Amino acid sequence: MSEKLSIGVIGGSGQEGGGLALRWAAKGHDVVIGSRSRDKAEVAAHSINAALAGRGSLRGATNHEAAQQNIVVLAVPYAAQVATAEEVHELLAGKILIDVTVPLLPPKVSRVQLPAEGSAVVALQRKLGESVKVVSAFQNVSAAHLRDLDYVVDCDVLVCGDDAAARETVISLAHDAGMRGWHAGVLANSAAAEALTSVLIAINQRYKVPGAGIRITGVPRD
Ligand SMILES: NC(=O)c1ccc[n+]([C@@H]2O[C@H](COP(=O)([O-])OP(=O)(O)OC[C@H]3O[C@@H](n4cnc5c(N)ncnc54)[C@H](OP(=O)(O)O)[C@@H]3O)[C@@H](O)[C@H]2O)c1
Repeated sequence: MSEKLSIGVIGGSGQEGGGLALRWAAKGHDVVIGSRSRDKAEVAAHSINAALAGRGSLRGATNHEAAQQNIVVLAVPYAAQVATAEEVHELLAGKILIDVTVPLLPPKVSRVQLPAEGSAVVALQRKLGESVKVVSAFQNVSAAHLRDLDYVVDCDVLVCGDDAAARETVISLAHDAGMRGWHAGVLANSAAAEALTSVLIAINQRYKVPGAGIRITGVPRD
């Protein structure tokens, strides 16, 4: 871990946000998981702390409190993405907002269905405005793997964003969660990561696995 960060995960009571929160807490970051219900967040935090078994801890709070942390993660279903971010908009100014949203439209989740803006994360950046440094990441990482702290996640992370320093911070957080993150270009490139998730879901279904992933090759690894 490079430096201890204060991280709030909106929707951290759920699968993907909870998995990332678990791994960051295990690395010593100061993590708050948020929910629409403080009680639900506290129950989820209790369960994650049990999984941590002394290798760190985190706490549960409201989404509003999660959004007060220095780095904020948005991890709610696509249908709730924009409305949830808008509820805490005033707390996000000047901060990095890591958006993990995949624009899945059930029931056809194994079919690529990108929004008219080209990308769910780009659409969110337009809604929030330039004061929020939105970075897209983790769309291709299965929560099933993140939530098992002892599992070595065999998956790379595409990190897209218009602010290179913000991308670098998220790459460092991917590393802290046990993965290799890559500068994958501007925020608009998030369309590729979002689309890839439906490809991976199709592979999961065909090969009966819980979380196929991606690997970047051809670049020396650390
Ligand atoms: N699951 C994966 O493997 C995976 C992988 C990559 C990316 N993602 C992306 O990560 C995001 C979260 O996925 P997930 O699987 O973690 O979802 P999830 O567990 O179903 O939901 C996450 C949290 O979102 C909140 N939520 C649900 N409906 C909401 C609504 N209408 N308004 C506001 N908040 C609501 C809930 O928190 P409270 O009820 O506590 O408020 C819930 O705990 C999605 O955008 C998904 O595409 C998921």
